[in-house]
Amino acid sequence: MKTLVILVHPNMENSRINKRWKEELEKYPDKITVHELYKEYPDWNINIEKEQELLEKHNNIIFEFPLYWYSSPPILKKWLDEVLSYNWAYGNKYRLEGKNIGFAVSVGGPQQEYSKEGSVRFSMDEILAPFEATVEYIKANLVPHHFIFDTENLSDEKLSENAENYIKHIFNTK
Ligand SMILES: Cc1cc2nc3c(=O)[nH]c(=O)nc-3n(C[C@H](O)[C@H](O)[C@H](O)COP(=O)(O)O)c2cc1C
Repeated sequence: MKTLVILVHPNMENSRINKRWKEELEKYPDKITVHELYKEYPDWNINIEKEQELLEKHNNIIFEFPLYWYSSPPILKKWLDEVLSYNWAYGNKYRLEGKNIGFAVSVGGPQQEYSKEGSVRFSMDEILAPFEATVEYIKANLVPHHFIFDTENLSDEKLSENAENYIKHIFNTK
């Protein structure tokens, strides 16, 4: 079954990292579906039924986004609030139960700052806690995260290496 990548970037024209990741994902159209929320919903009017149907068709789901103020870009919060509805995602029915859900996040700051000792003081695992708790709540299965750090200082070679590892990560964790 194909992996669904829900790509959440408000400004893909100016993206370097998520654009490169997307380019790599699109090399595998038989195995990976890329679904761009900002492109699909420029007016933020999310088609809940369509989103739910798409999710039901996939057993492996990745949320991909750049880290913005230690969280995701905002349409993802709206998407979660609306698509993970009562008696669909939780309540009497858990339609995403047992599905694999993961996160691929590009991070501007260097990796060493994302620790108790670093300037950020929190690890990326801690920063993603609300997302992890959501996955737990809907009885889905959290798979390991994929990160890229220090995005401003990253060479094209390192970015390509990371993009290839992202694909391997998707195929290994499903
Ligand atoms: C509005 C905004 C907020 C950001 N907040 C953070 C942040 O909290 N932590 C961080 O390390 N980088 C932050 N950044 C840097 C982005 O994470 C980084 O530019 C992005 O991951 C690069 O991916 P892209 O080339 O696909 O846009 C922020 C960037 C923007 C535009």
